[in-house]
Amino acid sequence: MTHPIAIDFKATDFDAILLEKGRVVLIVDPDALTVLQTKIDKSTHGALGRAIKSDAFSVLPQGKSLELSFPVGLLAETLQVVKLAKSVTPLVARRAGGGIGANLSKVSSLISLEDHPHADELTFGAALRAYSFDQHKTKPPAPLGQVKVQANDPEALAAKTASHAALAEGVFFTRDLVNEPANILTTDSFAARLVAMRDLGLEIEILEESQMLALGMHALLGVGQGSESPSKLVVLRWNGGKKENAPLALVGKGVVFDTGGISIKPAGGMEEMTMDMGGAGVVAGVMRSLALRKARANVVGLVGLVENMPDGRAQRPGDIVTSMKGTTIEVINTDAEGRLVLADVLWYAQETYKPHAMINLATLTGAIIVALGHENTGGFSNNTLFYDKLDKAAEAEGEGLWRMPLGDAYDAKLTSRIADIVNSCGRDAGAITAAQFLQRFVKPETPWIHLDIAGTALMKTATDLAPKGATGWGVLALNRMIADHFED
Ligand code: BES
Ligand code: MN
Ligand code: ZN
Repeated sequence: MTHPIAIDFKATDFDAILLEKGRVVLIVDPDALTVLQTKIDKSTHGALGRAIKSDAFSVLPQGKSLELSFPVGLLAETLQVVKLAKSVTPLVARRAGGGIGANLSKVSSLISLEDHPHADELTFGAALRAYSFDQHKTKPPAPLGQVKVQANDPEALAAKTASHAALAEGVFFTRDLVNEPANILTTDSFAARLVAMRDLGLEIEILEESQMLALGMHALLGVGQGSESPSKLVVLRWNGGKKENAPLALVGKGVVFDTGGISIKPAGGMEEMTMDMGGAGVVAGVMRSLALRKARANVVGLVGLVENMPDGRAQRPGDIVTSMKGTTIEVINTDAEGRLVLADVLWYAQETYKPHAMINLATLTGAIIVALGHENTGGFSNNTLFYDKLDKAAEAEGEGLWRMPLGDAYDAKLTSRIADIVNSCGRDAGAITAAQFLQRFVKPETPWIHLDIAGTALMKTATDLAPKGATGWGVLALNRMIADHFED
């Protein structure tokens, strides 16, 4: 499991900066060098000042940086000068921190934050971006050297960073799950990683196939019936709130690999379907963060873990399955499997836990990528008051979220000739009809949000806060929404 980098907090110390052998990082407000930075400028014979006055620096956006190699007067190999005014938003500072975390030295790094108002965000951003997933490389890149952060009040900054650490742990837990291939992250090993979180005080329960059969979860079971790996429904409970408060339910699609089943996908890019458990990964990461920071909230996470494989026993196109709710579903396309899994988990969540609200996350459709690309998750909801809470939290965390419509005309497309509904109804508005399908399994009185993270769970290029690969999208937004609205 990947953990955030360890950071040594130290008091601001000019001599230590001069003696640092690896990388020195300065946060520079171009209009106001600090006294310390002015001294460093003198030590470098004015190189720092010239860099800041250069055209290259003046065209840099806030949060980006310029590097000086082997600067005269310092022992360091590199001096990284980050352009950042004190007046920036916390998010800009977090992203600037990402620019530091992406370039930490194998020797050692010394980041001088003095009394920057967003020193905590700079540190958090650096930690998030410093994630790397290389446990499967026999020759992993050399490990990072010591990371030292100098601040005028190092104790206060260390304390703030500790509260961020629970969040970074949750994000990294999600990223590890999403990056892991399907021969390693099977339904069994996924469940085992969740069970291990009992040590953090989470209550974990696993429903095996026999129990799901008894409950009538034929929609979920049909998806997994072609796989050697057993389907599982894992329930994670964090009861940090008052006993009488109904929980918030978080539901995740956990398809550990999606071949498409008998409606098999083309070979090109199929390897990406190791991330089709991304929704379950986010639920797991949020639950981990809540437990680590001992959130005063009641939250129940439910993940449907299945593998969608073609096989002699696999479900066929044309099959009709009866969901736990009782709705019969004509399986037009076995590749529209996520909604089949969620149908039963959503229904089970409401019947069992009577949640006051419910959010599901799923890498549900390619169509949401056509609509929104990789910049925004598609959000669907039956309750604007509830949706707006998440919308604000996502905005504050810089996690892209864009609301999509629901409506009767879309729902009408689900009509089946021989069953109650179909699981797939063509290309038009594919992300919306998938959401309509899910809504068939949401009680009208349950405030509900569906998040289609097919485009945001994994990125082919690095972002400000994550290397290429799994992003952990949603862990921070959900955690913030819970902190802002659902804690006693
Ligand atoms: N897991 C896929 C959706 C997906 C696509 C996730 C690309 C991430 C990247 C989902 O199970 C799927 O196959 N959806 C189909 C639905 C269709 C058959 C109605 C799709 O989007 O093509
Ligand atoms: Mn599919
Ligand atoms: Zn899928």
